Amino acid sequence: MEKILVVDDEVSMRDFLDIMLRKEGYEVELAGTGREAMRLLEGGLYDLVISDLSMGDLSGLDILRRSKEVAAQTPVMMITAYASTESAIDALKLGACDYVIKPFNVDELKIVIRNALERRRLVSENQELKRELRGRYRFEELVGRSPKMKAVLSLVEKISMTGSTVLVQGESGTGKELVARAIHFNSPRADKPFISINCGALPDELLESELFGHTKGSFTGAISSKKGLFEVADGGSIFLDEIGETSTAMQVKLLRVLQERRIRRVGGTEEIPVNVRIIAATNQDLAQAVRERRFREDLFYRINVIPLPLPPLREKKEDIPTLAEHFLAKVSKEMGKPLKGISRQAMELLEAHAWPGNVRELENVIERAVALESAGMIQPQSLPPEVCEGRVAGAAPGIEIPEEGLDLESRLEDLRVDAMRQALERSEGVQSQAARQLGMTFRSFRYFAKKYGLARDDS
Ligand SMILES: Nc1ncnc2c1ncn2[C@@H]1O[C@H](COP(=O)(O)OP(=O)(O)OP(=O)(O)O)[C@@H](O)[C@H]1O
Ligand SMILES: [Mg+2]
Repeated sequence: MEKILVVDDEVSMRDFLDIMLRKEGYEVELAGTGREAMRLLEGGLYDLVISDLSMGDLSGLDILRRSKEVAAQTPVMMITAYASTESAIDALKLGACDYVIKPFNVDELKIVIRNALERRRLVSENQELKRELRGRYRFEELVGRSPKMKAVLSLVEKISMTGSTVLVQGESGTGKELVARAIHFNSPRADKPFISINCGALPDELLESELFGHTKGSFTGAISSKKGLFEVADGGSIFLDEIGETSTAMQVKLLRVLQERRIRRVGGTEEIPVNVRIIAATNQDLAQAVRERRFREDLFYRINVIPLPLPPLREKKEDIPTLAEHFLAKVSKEMGKPLKGISRQAMELLEAHAWPGNVRELENVIERAVALESAGMIQPQSLPPEVCEGRVAGAAPGIEIPEEGLDLESRLEDLRVDAMRQALERSEGVQSQAARQLGMTFRSFRYFAKKYGLARDDS
């Protein structure tokens, strides 16, 4: 069903369009103020926007401009009173697809809407074909097709189409930067810059002049004026990595950019408009940081328009073999050291490890193994001790409760998986024997073996 956003400050007009459009079979969302429309545009993806030209708080032209920024391909149609055809012309110049003059003929309006949607369908089909060609290539970089990874991919694809602000949240090494790149390079902004900056790595003054630029003489050492990264990224995307590490003073400055989409260079007075898609990332729980007053709530809501949580590797263990093979191919090509593969025992160790450093840790382990290996295949002995001994450590009887507490259920589950895996190995895959070793009934052994994907055959 096609989705239409109707923006009008007049209740009767909103209601009329709502009923008429629903009858025509469209899905409708309504905004009664310009501000509300801006908010909806940030989060939603519409097939058509119909906006009144003159409203109380913001003009229809502002809505049009913002809509073109967040979703360039969504057509925007203006409704205007007869007296103001002048600005209808402005609207067309700014990229509105059409306008109708009040009072309008309902049948005419229906046709104008149908045509706008038809054109939009053709354009987006065309774009989709192109994107599919490009995208297939881009998405190949994101390895892993576990259910959790599939969910991430489909969200990434949807997000790419919008210009909304995204917050990528995940532990260290889960692929936050890789995902941010995938979003940018699959978006309509793909041929404009992708600029990445680590907000945690620079002291405030430096970060400020990096992001916003400075004018000549604004501080000692500022021998010439310089563009900030927000300006450099114009038309493209900026990746604000480790945004949770910014000081409160910096958070206020970022909030201003997000609200006003303008920046001011350090030492400057001129307000420079910027058209940049913001992708922020953090490995902290920002909601928690807000509760602890380490992170501004208003900024959190501004950047958390679309949250994109990345699962840690231990929650998508199915992806370990594919990722390991992927890194093996990549690294052995880089090192000019062709290897046949990963031995079964080595792969089992890789699958059993908890990967606190996530995908990056796996990548490093494979790189090390390729460098060390001389037998043509990755064997357990070329894996680092924490991976080889992981199973023993995981099954250790002693348990230490860390300060932040412990998820006992999942620890017990890990223990069970470990024990069952070992028992299966000893019984050479015969489930009834393995069950006996662990004092489990065959039924419950079989149930868990299936749940954890441990069973190799139906014995
Ligand atoms: N799904 C994936 N497919 C292929 N490679 C991946 C995947 N996820 C992560 N990687 C690789 O793992 C490494 C770490 O990824 P990335 O730098 O994006 O993580 P990060 O979350 O930004 O980590 P950090 O918090 O430490 O900065 C990179 O080399 C990246 O290419
Ligand atoms: Mg990173």
